[in-house]
Amino acid sequence: MRQPLIMGNWKMNGSLESAQSLCSAIMEGLNADDMGVAVCAPYVYLSTLQVLTSSSTLSVGAQNVADQASGAYTGEISATMLKEMGCAYALVGHSERRSYYGDTDETVADRFCEAQKEGIIPVLCIGETLAEREANETFNVVNRQLDAVIEKAGIGALENAVIAYEPVWAIGTGVTASDEQAQEVHKAIRARIAAKNTVIADKIQILYGGSMKPANAKGLLAMADIDGGLIGGASLDATSFLEIYRSI
Ligand code: 13P
Repeated sequence: MRQPLIMGNWKMNGSLESAQSLCSAIMEGLNADDMGVAVCAPYVYLSTLQVLTSSSTLSVGAQNVADQASGAYTGEISATMLKEMGCAYALVGHSERRSYYGDTDETVADRFCEAQKEGIIPVLCIGETLAEREANETFNVVNRQLDAVIEKAGIGALENAVIAYEPVWAIGTGVTASDEQAQEVHKAIRARIAAKNTVIADKIQILYGGSMKPANAKGLLAMADIDGGLIGGASLDATSFLEIYRSI
């Protein structure tokens, strides 16, 4: 039985004050034994959240991590720095990074490796665009994105990683993949990993992301290969986020 994971991705939203109050409201809604909840906050709020969450089961993650360990990379944040800020997770390869900031399968694989070197669990985001889905390319795209990481990091690296399947057409659009559409891809991702290592395939958490809300979470999370959610918009509201968590 895989431990479910519900993770918020706040993206570039909020203020110092709203980050603190959102985090506090989430923690207030959690019991001492509630595991598998995390929020990925903007870098500049991580140190505040580290202090706020010090005696909570709520984990904190970053939304990206540098593809290099240190040096002349203006504007980048290394895995070592994120570790100092108490990050348990780092997203890598989010579609917004791939489409707006030039992240490639190659650099995403480097980011993945950098996170793991510091013991941070990378959350590898993969998913197809609408055009790719309509061209029947969904499986080719997610396989390519997954294989790039496996080739660089080795299949064993997936032992300490999370995968998030986020169809690009469902992100921030209000259009969610149906339970069956999502399950079909999750199952294929797990099968691809199983072809190399069945133990890891059985164990790895595969999250769904893309317009997940309290109204659709229950159905998605009930699917056999959907182990949790990576939630954008609905994670900015503590009540909605906790409701999704409670619907597991
Ligand atoms: P939305 O939940 O706002 O669609 O965002 C999903 C996402 O991109 C999470 O990383």
